Amino acid sequence: MAVDFENDIEKILIMPDELKTLAENLGRRISEDYRDDGELLVVCILKGSLLFTAELLKNITIPVKLDTMCVSSYGAGTVSSGNINIKKDLDTKQIKGMNVLLVEDIVDSGNTIKRTKELLMERGPKSVRVCSMLDKPERRQVQMNPEYVGKKIPDVFVVGYGLDFDENYRNLPYVGVLKPEVYQLV
Ligand code: IMP
Ligand code: MG
Repeated sequence: MAVDFENDIEKILIMPDELKTLAENLGRRISEDYRDDGELLVVCILKGSLLFTAELLKNITIPVKLDTMCVSSYGAGTVSSGNINIKKDLDTKQIKGMNVLLVEDIVDSGNTIKRTKELLMERGPKSVRVCSMLDKPERRQVQMNPEYVGKKIPDVFVVGYGLDFDENYRNLPYVGVLKPEVYQLV
């Protein structure tokens, strides 16, 4: 089915201005929390958190290094499998002793980020924390509370500002609720 931005979005949940403010507030907190605490590696979890990571980085005022990781979660459907598959690992070979900050688009069941965090913890970093733009706490299946959350949202399927459905809608400048009939048709 053809993508039709005007018709596929039920309503706008978070406007561009609010997204900017979320990133500013989180960037400030992160800068304070990690000040004088050694090396900070910010990890953009591809591809959903690309836009949010960029905005967040602009608001982090302490020295950081940037890396990316790609782990698979959903395919064309909207239900998490519980198992993750590393499609692209960090470029940073050695994270021993570093503070790692995983930047996610959204925490849903919590499976993806929990597994990713456990996997990185095995490499001996000083810490691994999670910063998620959005959080759907009602959907949680595992114990996983991100240290930094931009905004808690209800149990709805959202797209835009990096978030996709079947690789579409990532370029929307806002976060919007996708009409159920759009994903039920796939
Ligand atoms: P989890 O493993 O169930 O927590 O799923 C996390 C991943 O699923 C996120 O990184 C997103 O890529 C995807 N996801 C979860 N909820 C949504 C949503 O409402 N819209 C788009 N992607 C979502
Ligand atoms: Mg996704």
